[in-house]
Amino acid sequence: MSFGHKHILGMDQLSADDITRILDTADSFKEISAREIKKVPTLRGKTIINIFFEASTRTRASFEIAEKRLSADTLNISASTSALVKGETLEDTARNLEAMHPDIIVMRHGHSGAPHYLAERCNFSVINAGDGAHEHPTQALLDLMTIRDKKGTIGGLTVAIVGDIAHSRVARSNIIALNTMGARVRLAGPRTLLPTGADRLGAEVFTDIKGALDGADVVMMLRIQQERQGSPLLPSNREYSRFFGLNPDNLQRAKEDAIVMHPGPMNRGVEIASSVADGPRNVILDQVENGVAVRMALLYLISGGEKMAE
Ligand code: CP
Repeated sequence: MSFGHKHILGMDQLSADDITRILDTADSFKEISAREIKKVPTLRGKTIINIFFEASTRTRASFEIAEKRLSADTLNISASTSALVKGETLEDTARNLEAMHPDIIVMRHGHSGAPHYLAERCNFSVINAGDGAHEHPTQALLDLMTIRDKKGTIGGLTVAIVGDIAHSRVARSNIIALNTMGARVRLAGPRTLLPTGADRLGAEVFTDIKGALDGADVVMMLRIQQERQGSPLLPSNREYSRFFGLNPDNLQRAKEDAIVMHPGPMNRGVEIASSVADGPRNVILDQVENGVAVRMALLYLISGGEKMAE
């Protein structure tokens, strides 16, 4: 059965069945990364361009690794070395790349909606690798894969997302995805870092971390996105850490078998104590490992999925 999606732009476009299919496909791809020869011919002959206009370690590396493990031809472009610095528009850049016949463009951009803009105008597939404070769908999918791996299910779990919710594309994508999969979502952060209308996002809202952690199955910590704040929205990191940082004491409020997640990059000692980030409940590097499998699954599915495997 065809996947039915040409682009991966946001979690609002994926149903629970779509998500389950992506996670099942990712499960089947995961073992390739454990092989001695970590390569299959699935995307041989496909050309994929990764364009990153914002900094990235995990997303960029894991897309490139996923592409190479599937034998696609890949090429990376960053803003500082592209003709955008000479004043070329995003649309002209895309049209010029389109003339070289790529199959998929993976794009991270500082402006919300930039990947959607390309998807509407060009004939290649587009995967959103994070657009401004809007969405980061592949992060949400790898988070769901990690939760399902560790807890056996997603529906019915209580997931506390703590930190700079207002500026986080990870939070936005996860709120949508977790609701789609039937989880209960709690959001916690200082009022200045909660989006207006947070209570209408399908989540319970807390202005202290303790209430959000009570009985939680999953704790997802977020970095303060200084780069998206005009003027400082917090008195100090030290005060933030006192009221919203995850530490061994307040983590005891969550269920005994609760898992601790973080999309990275982490600011140790601010939103998360090192002893928790490296502690027995953390699944942070499992998230990174699953990121490769999820991105392999997405590249495979939007390229034609099962049709290619025949
Ligand atoms: N989680 C995430 O998007 O990390 P990078 O910014 O390093 O890609």
